[in-house]
Amino acid sequence: MSLALIERYRSLLPVGDATPVVSLGEGSTPLLPAPRLSERHGVELWLKWEGANPTGSYKDRGMTVAVSKAVEEGAEAVICASTGNTAASAAAYAARAGLRAVVLVPEGAVAAAKLAQTRMLGARVLEVRGSFDEALGAARVLAERGTHVLVNSLNPYRVAGQKTAVHEIVEELGGAPDAFAIPYGGGGNTTAYAAALAELGLDTPIVSVEAADRARTLASAIRIAEPVHAPKVASSGARVVTVSDEEIVAAWRSLAELEGVFCEPSSAAGLAAVARGAAVGRVVVTLTGHGLKDVVAADRHAPPVGTVDPDPDAIAEAAR
Ligand SMILES: Cc1ncc(COP(=O)(O)O)c(C=O)c1O
Repeated sequence: MSLALIERYRSLLPVGDATPVVSLGEGSTPLLPAPRLSERHGVELWLKWEGANPTGSYKDRGMTVAVSKAVEEGAEAVICASTGNTAASAAAYAARAGLRAVVLVPEGAVAAAKLAQTRMLGARVLEVRGSFDEALGAARVLAERGTHVLVNSLNPYRVAGQKTAVHEIVEELGGAPDAFAIPYGGGGNTTAYAAALAELGLDTPIVSVEAADRARTLASAIRIAEPVHAPKVASSGARVVTVSDEEIVAAWRSLAELEGVFCEPSSAAGLAAVARGAAVGRVVVTLTGHGLKDVVAADRHAPPVGTVDPDPDAIAEAAR
């Protein structure tokens, strides 16, 4: 039986005997060596593969804690604003716990597969005519009214759960790497990584990577114009690096073609920064979400499909 994240890290998390464990077997994700990309970029690169979480993103680490605490506190419904992954995770853990989930997404700006996933999981999905930031504002007001528990990363239980990725990495490497590189959308994960490092007494640099055009990047998961955790990111000591969409796409494709890891575009932001020399030595790049989350983006950037007759010679020729 897979170990629930809450059980593995119980002593580090704000849970007690009365907290029900709402789990889908999250966490304990692979830490993969990346020999070809290491050689290309002159570093010792490791990939923390968070797409292996139950709903396909790192959000599950925080959501198991947030939803477990919501149940403990007697909630009946959760709410979030989302660029897609929080939505799917909230929907899954709410379904698991028998809670209602309301999900607010910016209209037309969320990858279709994430929306389908969230709808299948039974959440009430509402497209908001506005940006992610406006949707989050509305969700916060509803949460303040007391009808719904907010499960965005403003919920401290989310950040507490997300810290566990750092603990797993340090345990598995037998010590701290020389740097972490992670995408920077709203900044919740950067906050969580910084909190985990403080807990461990480590001062490992965090390279937090944002898209140059935050409001319009193709990396829709980090399409957040006004990062809600920006003040915490600034005071965390993380180094913010800005990369272009072209750099994200190049990193994204190289992860798939050279290492066999198909993540979503946003997840490649960390590698894009490494490719620029933003980190040296033993570097852990966290790949936050699965490539199947955004097949439309993949379809746009992957090599074309060929068409052949069922003729072995023609196939051999076309396959060269
Ligand atoms: C796949 C993925 N990567 C990165 C991020 C950004 O993380 P944060 O908002 O915690 O900075 C998100 C946020 O939605 C995401 O879904």
